[in-house]
Amino acid sequence: MPTKKDSKGGLQDVVATTSAICDLDGDRGMLSYCGYDISDLATGATFEEVCYLLWHRRLPTRSELGDLQSQFSAATPLPEQILRIMRSLPPGDGMDALRTLTSALAHYDREAGDTSAPAQYRKAIRLTAKISTIVATWGRLQISGGPIAPDPALGHAANFLYMLTGQRPTTRATRAFDIALILHADHELNASTFAGRVTAATLSDIYSATVAAIGALKGPLHGGANAAVMRLLLEIGEDASNEQIDQAIKSKLNKKEKIPGFGHRVYRTEDPRATHLRQMSKELGEESGHPGWFSVSERIEALVKEEKNLNANVDFYSASTYHALGISIDLFVPIFAVSRISGWTAHILEQYGNNRLIRPRAEYIGPEYPQQFVELSQR
Ligand SMILES: CC(C)(COP(=O)(O)OP(=O)(O)OC[C@H]1O[C@@H](n2cnc3c(N)ncnc32)[C@H](O)[C@@H]1OP(=O)(O)O)[C@@H](O)C(=O)NCCC(=O)NCCS
Repeated sequence: MPTKKDSKGGLQDVVATTSAICDLDGDRGMLSYCGYDISDLATGATFEEVCYLLWHRRLPTRSELGDLQSQFSAATPLPEQILRIMRSLPPGDGMDALRTLTSALAHYDREAGDTSAPAQYRKAIRLTAKISTIVATWGRLQISGGPIAPDPALGHAANFLYMLTGQRPTTRATRAFDIALILHADHELNASTFAGRVTAATLSDIYSATVAAIGALKGPLHGGANAAVMRLLLEIGEDASNEQIDQAIKSKLNKKEKIPGFGHRVYRTEDPRATHLRQMSKELGEESGHPGWFSVSERIEALVKEEKNLNANVDFYSASTYHALGISIDLFVPIFAVSRISGWTAHILEQYGNNRLIRPRAEYIGPEYPQQFVELSQR
């Protein structure tokens, strides 16, 4: 057990690698993918265009995008064996299921052991397509609904909502979900991406690297925060008065509890993703006839700013946005993975392309050397 506080502070501000994929400026609150501002991508692009951008470092032409869409469509259905494994799992945490099923996918990928760059790229496409189907189908099984086959005529965002609900999503819902996918697609060396890159850097396979990333994303300090935000909102209630909201939040802060959806290791300003999600939460809340979740969120945001000078991060308004889209809370973190798989695979491919084993050092703070070894029988 460590005997003093970690003096290395969670690698804060340590620049661990170079990357051409994503840049963020925490002081100015700016986020860009391959030089494109996140706001321009959120307002003008689709998730498929962003995938192409992350994987190729440039936006696709119309025909390149068409090719990618066809590849997605071909890759979206799941092997029957994966559906069988999914049905055999006990009901429960979607991230646990996603971790197991992503790992299982490797067994049914004929190119799993092919380390050539074209094969790695094809696997990135397949992983991105299939993780979406896994999460939507898992969501169906949790409500005792049967799996719904993807519709090749639909884009990635619409297909996810269709496979999840069985209903053709409205243009509005599709666009909102597409924007959420774009905003979550990449975020430099966040914990899960770093986990994926560390695994890839051992020259382990892309499935293992993705499974490592999924494990890291699950934690409440990372992707798990969006579900924690929704639980907090439900605990407070949609119709809570300002006094009730203030009391609930202040009582948590007094107990030194962290308020999920606030704070960030890098941003010192507003998280630029939160700006878009706040707007979506407002519009979708009004449209769904439940504007209360947005109002409660706004009040919490103002209070946490006032009390702790902390800004909302990407997870805070994602919660009420997903809720307004009718998505179950259990799927909030898996949905993060539906988007972030694009960034994970971009980073994993970048790592393979210019690899060196990632192997830092630790400052030793254990018992002094040399300790006198005592035989088991004498201890
Ligand atoms: C994101 C996060 C993990 C960053 O962690 P970090 O850079 O290690 O920062 P710390 O946890 O050391 O926080 C620094 C200070 O701010 C406080 N703080 C940070 N986030 C807080 C929050 N959400 N609610 C209340 N206080 C918070 C800490 O208690 C700490 O205060 P102290 O110095 O008085 O002890 C952290 O802000 C957090 O846990 N947020 C909630 C979970 C979340 O939303 N995660 C998603 C991130 S996108």
